[in-house]
Amino acid sequence: MNSAIRKFIFHDLQTIEGYIDPPDALVFLSLLQDQKDSDLAGAIAEIGVFYGRSYFLLRKIGGSDEKILAIDLFDIDQTTGNTPSQYSRFLENGRRLGLPVDEELVIRGDSTRLEPAELTAKIGKIRFFSIDGGHMLQHVTADSRLAMETLADHGVIAFDDTFNPAWPEVTVGVADFLRKSGGAFSAFCMTKYKTYVCRREFHEFYSELIANSANLAAFDHVETEFLGSKVARLHNPLGRRMAYELMVRSGMSAFSERVYR
Ligand SMILES: C[S@@+](CC[C@H](N)C(=O)[O-])C[C@H]1O[C@@H](n2cnc3c(N)ncnc32)[C@H](O)[C@@H]1O
Repeated sequence: MNSAIRKFIFHDLQTIEGYIDPPDALVFLSLLQDQKDSDLAGAIAEIGVFYGRSYFLLRKIGGSDEKILAIDLFDIDQTTGNTPSQYSRFLENGRRLGLPVDEELVIRGDSTRLEPAELTAKIGKIRFFSIDGGHMLQHVTADSRLAMETLADHGVIAFDDTFNPAWPEVTVGVADFLRKSGGAFSAFCMTKYKTYVCRREFHEFYSELIANSANLAAFDHVETEFLGSKVARLHNPLGRRMAYELMVRSGMSAFSERVYR
């Protein structure tokens, strides 16, 4: 099973236009599989689907039994004549990958206007919430509130584009969220692109999970501190990133998985 998912991460993921790369895909895999092995139940949700790159990864990891809610405005490409709309391209990617979208579990609209009950009525409490929608402070504030109020006690929130100078308000939004929670939530893992947060009671559990995951052994685990909690920063050395890019660009993506063992 793990090898089929690794094949998806190192081969199929790049065929979908979008943003998640192997390091975060491997963090998603580690968290979701260990939650399942530890009987930490709950659904999965994502704000900011685009053409489904991270959504289909979640579908692949979750399998057909998991409820995965997709939330997006789906308003990109709508004015360009013959170009298929964002939503059609999303559905088409699902058909192509053999992971058809469950349209009952798609919300087409502005995430900042949603109420927590609209989400829990569809999928119940959430154990993994990926936030990658609007990147301004008002979006991150609203989306993190929605996630907090729908999250299972043991749930994880993955914030995208943290510490990216192109989107400075995302970092402000995440810091505001953590500080306003008064210590109820804390970060336990960071990559180049994402910050992973959980309730304080589960900080040790998730820290150990990250430290011991075989899928993450290829990275340097550097301890850092963020707003009062210890965070594992997963560093991906330049040499490996270059080797990976070279393999993908020269059509050798089937071998690129070896770089991350
Ligand atoms: C960076 S893309 C998401 C990338 C995606 N997770 C991937 O793996 O490729 C951001 C998405 O957020 C959506 N978005 C922006 N503002 C939003 C809002 N207020 N409500 C819902 N979706 C929003 C956009 O339509 C876009 O598809």
